[in-house]
Amino acid sequence: MDVLVSGLKRGLRGEITIPADKSISHRSVMFASLAKGKSRISNFLYASDCRSTVGLFKNLGVDIEFIDEHNLIVTSSGMLTPPNNNLDCGNSGTTMRLVSGILAGQNFNSVLVGDESLSKRPMKRIITPLSQMGAVIDSNDGRAPLKIQGSKLHAIEYNSPIASAQVKSSILLAGMNADGVTTVIEPYVSRNHSELMLKYMGANISVDKNKVSIEKSELIAKDIVVAGDISSAAFFIVAALIVPDSDIIIRNVGLNETRTGIIDVVQRMGGNLEILDERIVSGEKVGDIRVRYSDLKGCNVSGADVPRLIDELPVIALLATQADGETRITDAGDLRNKEADRITAVVTEFRKIGIDIDELSDGFVIGGKQTINGGSEVEVYHDHRLAMTLYVAGLIAKNEIKVNEFQWVNISLPEFLSLMETLIIL
Ligand code: S3P
Repeated sequence: MDVLVSGLKRGLRGEITIPADKSISHRSVMFASLAKGKSRISNFLYASDCRSTVGLFKNLGVDIEFIDEHNLIVTSSGMLTPPNNNLDCGNSGTTMRLVSGILAGQNFNSVLVGDESLSKRPMKRIITPLSQMGAVIDSNDGRAPLKIQGSKLHAIEYNSPIASAQVKSSILLAGMNADGVTTVIEPYVSRNHSELMLKYMGANISVDKNKVSIEKSELIAKDIVVAGDISSAAFFIVAALIVPDSDIIIRNVGLNETRTGIIDVVQRMGGNLEILDERIVSGEKVGDIRVRYSDLKGCNVSGADVPRLIDELPVIALLATQADGETRITDAGDLRNKEADRITAVVTEFRKIGIDIDELSDGFVIGGKQTINGGSEVEVYHDHRLAMTLYVAGLIAKNEIKVNEFQWVNISLPEFLSLMETLIIL
């Protein structure tokens, strides 16, 4: 599905409720599948990635019943059963990496496969630590398919070379099945949804800044309400900041501090963003966000900022094109390992629509405020976040932009276009 988008004549106005968080939705199904009993999950993200996780756990013998698209009941004996066929992770890196940690310590063998994009993504980052724990994983030179031979695991202390919640979570999930205390130390704190939910479900887990430890644990089934996804909200936040005369409210946004890097950056840039009605939902902070069109100034993004906004960097690069002065984004080399190489993809496609941007090995430099000419076709490289970033660029372009293969948004936010339409006043 190709989509045409042209510059808006008026600002974005109105309110939307942002759909559920992808990371939390995945974890809700995974952890409920490991817990003995019945867990009710509310406000689940019904998008392709999370549906891959559901399909996979059904294949491992877990009873997952959808009441409707966003509400489901997971009933488990607490034990997984050997799958009948290969386990398909689709496009989802979170599914493949976290599930590897779960399967490494089972008493059966399994094979994890993924789509074309996922089959190119690096898996050594989990194979290395899991192998140190005694896992036996055969891969295609560090890539999927992953053939996992269920093995007896032992604890390790792992100094992760990267701040990655997928790596951390994979090791912690393996650690729940291992003898001893498993510890992961990260260079910077990455998203902590696994830690919060595992604790909520009774795991023996402790956290001390960037060091997390877990011991053998049995999870207790619990009801989980999934918070809204700040990574999805990011596209609407940026749209309101850059389309003149916008003033919108985004409701139910997850505000976990390991995810709110974009809010800090917007405030650093002088953006008009207010948080209203902060509250806690299933152990996660949630609030409503009001955003208005703003005069922005460039800023630097690096180091500990990066894991707190890693998925928002393409749309933050777009935001920087509407800010006075230079924006430098560095220490983000892992963007090259996402659904696409997001550094090269952003630079290539931004240039096609007339944006002046420099490519660094680990980020971008955007010189300052500029007009986006548009008038061309752009590609999304099987990448949902690139598709949405390019659409938002189109909202301020002088000439129409055609975004090819826009259906990739279904990976994380099938409602993107309808939510955008509610904010666009014709
Ligand atoms: C995720 C962690 C991040 C993020 C991804 C989701 C998760 O990946 O980019 O979209 O749910 O744990 P890394 O752990 O590879 O940084």
